Formats: sequence, C-alpha cells, structure tokens
Amino acid sequence: MRLKGYHAETIMKKPFIVGNWKMNLTLKQGVEFARLLKNGLKGKREVLCGICPSFVFLSEICKILEGCNICVAAQNVHSETNGAYTGEVSALMIKEVGCTHVLIGHSERRHIFHETDSFINAKIKTALSVTLKPIFCIGETLEEREAGRTKDVIQSQLKGGLRDIHADQLEELVIAYEPVWAIGTGKTALPGQANEVHSFIRNIVADEYGKDFAANLYIQYGGSVKPENAKELMAQPEIDGLLVGGASITFESFLKIIEAVSKD
Ligand code: PGA
Repeated sequence: MRLKGYHAETIMKKPFIVGNWKMNLTLKQGVEFARLLKNGLKGKREVLCGICPSFVFLSEICKILEGCNICVAAQNVHSETNGAYTGEVSALMIKEVGCTHVLIGHSERRHIFHETDSFINAKIKTALSVTLKPIFCIGETLEEREAGRTKDVIQSQLKGGLRDIHADQLEELVIAYEPVWAIGTGKTALPGQANEVHSFIRNIVADEYGKDFAANLYIQYGGSVKPENAKELMAQPEIDGLLVGGASITFESFLKIIEAVSKD
C-alpha cells in the first residue's frame, strides 16, 4: 500500500491490476490460469487484482475464484437488461455468474464495433443499476494525439460516457486511460505522458463530482504494459492501477507484473 493521487497525503490506494484476456485462451487454459492466480496471490494483500476472461469462461472461472479477493470482469455488456438482442449478454447475466466488474468502452469496442459515447453511457447506467462495477475505458488515437486533440477527446469521451450519472451512483467506477496507439503495439505511453492525462481526467472528474470523489477514484493505465515497465508506470502519482492486455494472457508475465508493483 502507498500514497496516491490527489490529496496524496490522505489517500491510500492499493494498485489495481486487471488482465484483459480479450479473445484468447481455451477454457482449459483459463481455468488453469485462474487456479495458479488464486495460489500465487495467497497472502498478497498489497495489490488488488482482476481478470477479464471471455464470456463463455466466466461462470467456470468465477466458481474457482469465489471467496478470494480476485475480481472477475466481463469484457463487454449490452445496455438492455434482457430482450430480443440475439448474441448479446446482459448485465444481470454477468452478475448472476459471479462477476463484480465489467469493461465498458474498450477501444476495440469503440473502433472495431463502432460503439458510441451514448451507447457506452447507457451500458454504464445499466451496469450500475445491477451493481456491476464499470471499468470505463477512454483514450485517444495516434491521429488525435498528433493533431493536439488528446485532451478534447478525453474530455468528450468522459462527459459522454458519464452523462446524467450522479456521484452517489458512481462510487465503484474505475476509469482506464488507454491511448489507442499504445494498445497491442508495444509502444507504451511514457510514464510522464500517461500521468499528465490521468491528472487531466482527475481534474475533470473533480469539477464534475467533487474533489473527494476524484481523489478516491481509481484511474488505471493500459497500453503495452509489461513486467519491464509496470513498476515505473505505477510509480507515477496519478496512476492507480494497470489494465493489461497481451502481457496478461500468460500467467507468468501477469504474475511478474503483479510482483513488480507490489514490491516497493
Ligand atoms: P495491451 O492491451 O496491453 O495488449 O496493449 C491493453 C488493453 O487493450 O486493455
């Protein structure tokens, strides 16, 4: 545990490290990973940890991790809680199998599946309505960064995604800043670059929801996080956790990331 964030002198946050497996692994591999993680994290109280398996693995993996403090998150959710939406999965279903969190607005959903801020906003509202905690992802593309539009993009994704949601509904919100140009490219944002955007996000949240809320908010960084850069990223005062893609699909490298941020 260490001091983090806004009013750093009063806020204690454990690093929150989440592995997003995306469309990878077999059920057998996922189950094996979950068992190893459960054992590997026994007694490690200084880090919060979670994994985002494929929908079809969730039920099995939630059973393995039941009762230990490793969160299981779905990678997506639909905005309606039930109905004629062939192929979609509802927040109630995700909750029922034992997940505590859900990724919403991941850049692959935004860019490959054309999800809009208003759809993302509806998903966040629905997740909150069934007490599923959203990990709300935002981030600019390379083109937007090079055009000097990073802050505009971040601000509009943030405002669009959180529209008409009040602070008291958002207690369990996590934000993940994931610059699109750093996702799966091997190009990590420089720790200082990431910290600057995190600080910008926290300030917007403070204006909207108050300083205490912003101080307590977890803001994760994601984009080519590896065992080699995890510690340096986590050392930034505004980075409260990491959302890890490629380096989270082998247990060994995910564990190395967790170990890198737990030793201080
Ligand atoms: P990456 O993905 O770590 O493979 O860059 C991060 C993410 O998409 O959440």
